[in-house]
Amino acid sequence: MKILMVGSGGREHALIKKLKESPKCEKLYCAPGNGGISKDAEIVDIGAMDIEKMVAFAKDNAVDLVFVAPDDPLAAGMVDAMEKEGIRAFGPKSNAAIIEASKVFSKNLMKKYGIPTAKYEVFDDPKAAIEYIESESTAPVVVKADGLALGKGVIIAQTIEDAKAAVKSIMEDKQFGDSGNKIVIEEFLTGPEVSVLAFTDGNVVKPMVSSKDHKRAYDNDEGLNTGGMGTVSPNPYYTDDVAKECMEKIFVPTIEAMKKEGRPFKGCLYFGLMITPNGPKVIEYNARFGDPEAQVVLPRLKTDLVDICEAVIDEKLGELDIEWYDGAAACVVMASGGYPLSYKKGVEITGLDENGGVDGAVVYHAGTKLEGGKFLTNGGRVLGVTARADSLGEALDKAYEAVGKISFENAHFRKDIGRTK
Ligand code: AMP
Ligand code: GLY
Repeated sequence: MKILMVGSGGREHALIKKLKESPKCEKLYCAPGNGGISKDAEIVDIGAMDIEKMVAFAKDNAVDLVFVAPDDPLAAGMVDAMEKEGIRAFGPKSNAAIIEASKVFSKNLMKKYGIPTAKYEVFDDPKAAIEYIESESTAPVVVKADGLALGKGVIIAQTIEDAKAAVKSIMEDKQFGDSGNKIVIEEFLTGPEVSVLAFTDGNVVKPMVSSKDHKRAYDNDEGLNTGGMGTVSPNPYYTDDVAKECMEKIFVPTIEAMKKEGRPFKGCLYFGLMITPNGPKVIEYNARFGDPEAQVVLPRLKTDLVDICEAVIDEKLGELDIEWYDGAAACVVMASGGYPLSYKKGVEITGLDENGGVDGAVVYHAGTKLEGGKFLTNGGRVLGVTARADSLGEALDKAYEAVGKISFENAHFRKDIGRTK
């Protein structure tokens, strides 16, 4: 099969390396890809949001399977456009990707179908939102822009004043553009967070092994929120009992709800959960693999990923047994100093072999480019250094040992991945 991966980050590199293991995979393309990905797939110079060119490329090259990994092209209807041309694509259609693209949609869905989540109100008028905060809220207050905002649309305001300022910056100053035309104000929940990615064909849902993201930039969960600075799998807080409760109260009801709404979800659905004192609740849904969750979940997948993609597309997931490796995996993200704010690009990375790897670990490239045979930094998150082992402790040791072999000017990574709540 000829397979086209859409996207350019560490998640896409992890997906590509897994697809490459399949005996069915004959040729892999990635658009637009990155320096490290170019060692595993043929790079195609088409932007991830250029639906027209992507469809034309898939047609011209008789691509058998397109994997749309990032949120934006999913929300914009890239899978719909592929299907219209008879091209098989993995990922939800636009009317289902809305579960991530609109927080108002997802909150209303959960309310309608009794899926546990934080209590909330929706506002399209800043005055009403501020009045509500003054009269009803107790700090901390959680203020969320409705639409996609590069993972930055959530503000946890520690005081009522900060919450009112957040409403103003989102709704009046349009900090996130039109994504802030509506907002959700919700109850602040506490408890450990768990990420569960699940394969679903719209009818059947098969959760993958659990994982834990570390979103803050610095150790001890200090600093700004980032796309994710590291992950481990499994998540120690996701016990068998919690998993059972999530399956019954969250996973199955969500798939059923989307089906009833006439928006069957096919692809990978990401459940961002918080294990609160009152049980697991949904913090957010994503319509795709998480990044860097994919980097620790996929190395543990034993079953052929191409077979899974086909079963999802053909709505035959119930017939497939999905198997996982025991043990654990850990991913430490090496980022450019300054990320998630401003940072330098084009800095040479040393310690990688000619394929962009290193002994003892798997290096997923997130923001790199290849120039004159050298790998250079080309983004905020640069590399996801990942190891699998029998225990989490060993996986972390292996990942950190490999990190120690790689360097670039101003490289920043967290030293406490797998060690915080
Ligand atoms: P999101 O972009 O929805 O993943 O939110 C970013 C982060 O904000 C989450 O990972 C949580 O740590 C935090 N968060 C979001 N909603 C809540 C909430 N209702 N209560 C407490 N923390 C929250
Ligand atoms: N790591 C969080 C996300 O992919 O949304």
